Amino acid sequence: MVRRLFFACWPDERIREQLIARRDLIDGLSRRRVPDHNLHLTLLFLGNQPADRLQDIQSLANDIEARFFTLELDRFGWFQQAGVAWLGGPATPAATGLVEALTAGVIARGLVFQARAFHPHVSLFRQVRTCPELPVPPPLPWPVSEFSLIESIPSRPYQVLRTWPLSLPYS
Ligand code: 2AM
Repeated sequence: MVRRLFFACWPDERIREQLIARRDLIDGLSRRRVPDHNLHLTLLFLGNQPADRLQDIQSLANDIEARFFTLELDRFGWFQQAGVAWLGGPATPAATGLVEALTAGVIARGLVFQARAFHPHVSLFRQVRTCPELPVPPPLPWPVSEFSLIESIPSRPYQVLRTWPLSLPYS
């Protein structure tokens, strides 16, 4: 049995509302609007993993020592090939460091996955085949104080399996 997994920043209610407000600014781009309850920012996509490796995946996250950071989501964009319209922003060194630490942990445990460059973004619409010029959104600073392991099960809302805190900047 396999489980489809990814590490992500999962929004609290305040950030979720802010994401929804920005998604509303570009509403109608396609009929496949990402539902409110699924909005998130992927840190590392693991894909299908053997179910019996779930403990290992959690233990690698236990070992992560990373600090709180803020992501500034200040632009809309479109991944043409994937057909995804998104809200995103620059990768800060701290965010990249967390992704690198997760990646190193996954590799150290011999898990097989497809590495992809980290482009911080929240997918807002799927199946966007053509895209008009997108407006500039009001910037959204997202203070990220934790990260989560998420499971994707077809036709169900994403499931937050577990969340780990990041340490405070000056603790
Ligand atoms: P997307 O939103 O840009 O499509 C669950 O599918 C999450 O994992 C989504 O955020 C999705 O990104 C991301 N994802 C899916 N397949 C991926 C892959 N092959 N590499 C990196 N991220 C992927």
